[in-house]
Amino acid sequence: MDNTGYRSLLTYIKQEIRIDGALYKERPFKRRIKLRMRYTETGSYSEYLYYLRKNSEEMKLLKDALTINVTRFFRNRSTFEYLERLIKEKFVLKQKYVSILSVGCSSGEEAYTMGLILNNLKSMYNIDYSILGIDVDEIIIAKAKLGKYNDFSMKEIRKSEVKKYFDESENIYSLKEQFKKSVKFRIMDIKSFSEMKRLGRYDIILCRNVLIYFSKEFQEMIMKVFHEMLNPDGVLVLGKIEIIMGTFRNYYAIISKQERIYKKIGH
Ligand SMILES: C[S@@+](CC[C@H](N)C(=O)[O-])C[C@H]1O[C@@H](n2cnc3c(N)ncnc32)[C@H](O)[C@@H]1O
Repeated sequence: MDNTGYRSLLTYIKQEIRIDGALYKERPFKRRIKLRMRYTETGSYSEYLYYLRKNSEEMKLLKDALTINVTRFFRNRSTFEYLERLIKEKFVLKQKYVSILSVGCSSGEEAYTMGLILNNLKSMYNIDYSILGIDVDEIIIAKAKLGKYNDFSMKEIRKSEVKKYFDESENIYSLKEQFKKSVKFRIMDIKSFSEMKRLGRYDIILCRNVLIYFSKEFQEMIMKVFHEMLNPDGVLVLGKIEIIMGTFRNYYAIISKQERIYKKIGH
């Protein structure tokens, strides 16, 4: 259906908001565009492109639709519990410092969750840490820096933790300053490999529920980049329905299949 229109639309999207449709899985990508087409009551890709050119506000809405930001504190709690145990075993005694990168961090819940865990470990074992969250969406990064959340982000966090870490007022949960300040955020596109590599080396990279939107070819390429960005023995964490694709599978060993936690092997 309307192939030429679709290709022109992709070119325009790439040029205007630097999202390259060719690097994403086609079906979900098209589905999200079609959702916007339904809202704007445009009947074909060409018609939607015409609408998009005339309405700058629609470009923002399309960008939101294409970069889905759903996340929450302690999302898939068992993964964070596993990671906490792993950090104790692997890093606490050996190096007294852990560097963590949260890729596709959305509004910051994942990076802050690591911050809360590390803050506890720091008070018990005197281990220090750095945490950086990156995301392509500048609006969501601004939200992450703000550290204010609604009920949706709180679905998996315990009441006692909410009390300890947040100030609550009228269903808005503001992360307390002491927990906020230990996590940094930056706008970054994971497709910009050179920029990613300039971030340096990490002990733990979390990239959860991001790669599902990308093509198999891209997933293979990013596995190589993560491998370079991890310290020897470094840990990679993927989302619950994601796996390591392609030849780079051999460069990671499984630590927990269930939690999608892997260890870098080789150099
Ligand atoms: C579903 S959220 C995942 C949030 C968090 N990692 C989690 O699992 O709860 C996916 C995030 O990936 C980000 N994203 C999509 N494409 C990206 C890209 N090219 N570079 C960096 N982030 C990207 C989106 O903006 C979105 O915030």
